[in-house]
Order: sequence, then structure tokens, then C-alpha cells
Amino acid sequence: MRSDTPASRPVLLVTRRLPDAVEARAARDFDARLNPQDRALSGADIAALAREAGAEGVLCTAGDRLDAAAIAALPDAVRIVATFSVGTDHIDLNAAKARGLIVTNTPDVLTDATADIALLLMLGAARRASEGERMIRAGAWTGWTPTQLLGTHLGGKRLGIVGMGRIGQAVARRARAFGMTIHYSNRRRLPSEQEAGAVYHADPEEMLAVCDVLSLHFPATPDTTRWLKAERIERLPPGAIVVNTARGSVVDDEALIAALASGRLAAAGLDVFENEPNLHPGYRGLENAFLLPHLGSATVETRNAMGFRALDNLDAVFAGAAAPDRVV
Ligand code: DGY
Repeated sequence: MRSDTPASRPVLLVTRRLPDAVEARAARDFDARLNPQDRALSGADIAALAREAGAEGVLCTAGDRLDAAAIAALPDAVRIVATFSVGTDHIDLNAAKARGLIVTNTPDVLTDATADIALLLMLGAARRASEGERMIRAGAWTGWTPTQLLGTHLGGKRLGIVGMGRIGQAVARRARAFGMTIHYSNRRRLPSEQEAGAVYHADPEEMLAVCDVLSLHFPATPDTTRWLKAERIERLPPGAIVVNTARGSVVDDEALIAALASGRLAAAGLDVFENEPNLHPGYRGLENAFLLPHLGSATVETRNAMGFRALDNLDAVFAGAAAPDRVV
């Protein structure tokens, strides 16, 4: 960890390497302790570095696990943990709340990038893109044939979206352009202008039967752990496609792998996994699993915007104002 700025500014521990423009602003406005080697830190490492640096704020990321023990180990001087992510499942929010720690996230700015990746996953899974890529890279492509790697159209298919928040709605807008019919399930029904013709299902169980493609867009919480389990997969139409850009923990890997291996599901497009980066090894051998390494928000524009949003929250707290994206 490196100190770049005078100590008069609040000491900010930044847990991972961030885009240059974000690090430059952090170093300008804070006594920023950066991580130029981009070393992965455990919760205990973060607490120890925060103590060593005399940190008053921590800018962490989705891969940094701040469980109750790590939160308890943070020095008292730390007032805010600003996570460079919309998801907060890596932080024990109850523990943070109990000790009066402010936690903020970065909503909105990654909606479009994540929705784009959901469509990429749908297309990649439906059109067997990674099989084709592997064939070329292996030197196994012997030329065009009428029956080679036949996939399925998205157009004319029914897309079921579970969780119709910002990202779910952005996915729906894109999927409509591909000619898909949109169904959704959400805690509350959207106003009709936002629904834009999508069919609402109060009960997600009842929606599953009409999902040629199922896309998951709800947060990981204790209630949603392994939400997509064998019984729910059984309700999907045979040959359905499953897409996940939410969190790996909302899927029962064993059940999904079994359904892909048996052909009960045609394919899956997955950007997130339980226990990243050590995903269930069963996925690697499945031709019909289109796999990406958590790229949902991975554009320069989005990652800059996420960093600036996290810094906006830190600025607000150290200026004595309310953090715009306070979670607890
Ligand atoms: C988030 O922000 O929660 C994403 O998963 C990281 O891209």
C-alpha cells in the first residue's frame, strides 16, 4: 500500500487497483492508500491495513468479503465503507449497521453494461457461440455445413425476468428489440408505462412454465440462496435457456449442471458463480454452458462511473452530508 497525498485529507484505504482516472481522483481528494499490485485481500487483511493506515474510509469491491469478523476488526476511525459495486452481499450489513458504519454502493451506473452482458449471454447460449469459438481455436473447423452448431432464435421466444428493477427493465428493453415477448415477476407490479406490454406474474413459480429464456435479476440474500433449484428448473419448458448476471449463490449449481448435462435445459449463459473464481468444476466440461468471468460491469465507461460514484459517497460523508447511495 502506498501513501500519495498529505495526511490532512481523510485517509482512504482502496482495496483493489481501480481505473486510472478513479485512482487519480482518489489520490487528489484523499490521503489514498492504493493497491498498485492489485493484491487480493481477505477481510482480515483489509481490517489490518485500515488499522495500519489509520483509515477513516474504505473503498472496497465486490470481491472483498467483509463478514462480521472483518467489520468488527475494522478500526473505530473507519466511518464509511463505499463498495465499488451495486451488490452488497459481500458485506455483512447487519454487522455494519450494528456498529454504526455507513455502507454505500454504486447503483444505476452499471445498469446498461450489465443488461448488455445479459443479452450477450442469451445470444451466446442460444447460438452456441463458445462452442464455435472453441472449434476454431482448436483447429477443428472443417468448413461450413448446413447442420453445424445449430442453435435457436431469440426472436419469437418468451423471456421471463425474475426481478424487474433497473437492470431487469434494461434487459427487457433490449430483448424486445430481438423480438422476444417479455414476462416478469417482481415484488410489485410496475406502472404500465414501465411495463411496456410485459406480462406480470405475481408468483414467479407460475411464470416459470412460460420462460423459454429465464434471466435472473434479484439480489443475493439469505432468502434467495439457491433460488433456482431442481424443482424450479423442472417447471421450465424443456429446452429452456437460463441466464444469470445476478449472483452465483442464487443458483443451485448441482441442479443446473444436471439439467444442462441431461439436455433438460438447452443451455445456460452465466456471468456469475458461487465462490468466484473457484466455480463449480462441473460447468467447465459442459458444451452448452456459455461462461464469462463476471464481466457484467466491465467497460471503461462503467468502471469509471462506478469509481466516481463511490468517491461521491465518500466525499459526501467526509463533508458531513448524507451519502447519496447509503445502504445502511
Ligand atoms: C456489482 O456491482 O455488484 C457487480 O456484480 C460488479 O460488476
